[in-house]
Amino acid sequence: MQINENDKEFKPLIVAFCCNWCSYAGADLAGSSRLSYPANVKVIRVPCSCRVNPMFILRAFQRGADGVIIAGCHPGDCHYTSGNYFARRRMTLLFSMLDYMGIEKGRTRVEWISAAEGAKFSATMNEFVETIHNLGPNKKLEDLRCKE
Ligand code: FES
Repeated sequence: MQINENDKEFKPLIVAFCCNWCSYAGADLAGSSRLSYPANVKVIRVPCSCRVNPMFILRAFQRGADGVIIAGCHPGDCHYTSGNYFARRRMTLLFSMLDYMGIEKGRTRVEWISAAEGAKFSATMNEFVETIHNLGPNKKLEDLRCKE
């Protein structure tokens, strides 16, 4: 694959919605264990993965995100009993709709990361950034009015 000048400078903007009880704590553990993940991953803490309204994802893409990841507790471990099951169903539907609209499947992801999985958090974010980097910038849903 040929890399041009623009590709070298491309730093994907990633929005990571992390549930407060597991994934956010996992991010914390990654930090305190000195495991690195790229600085272009912007973590947004939510009470539970089911708090992520599909509009949040569309809005993130509109505002220039190149990839969006939702991280929550493992199935069965949600602190609100079944929030992550709802999130999983909702996101499956949304992601297939986004795919239909031409947003590549790799740009969206749901991952279960517990508070004890700092290494998994770091590895997932590194891998996701790599995937988005290979996909290139997201142009389909970007709202040019949101550009600075
Ligand atoms: Fe973590 Fe529900 S509290 S996914």
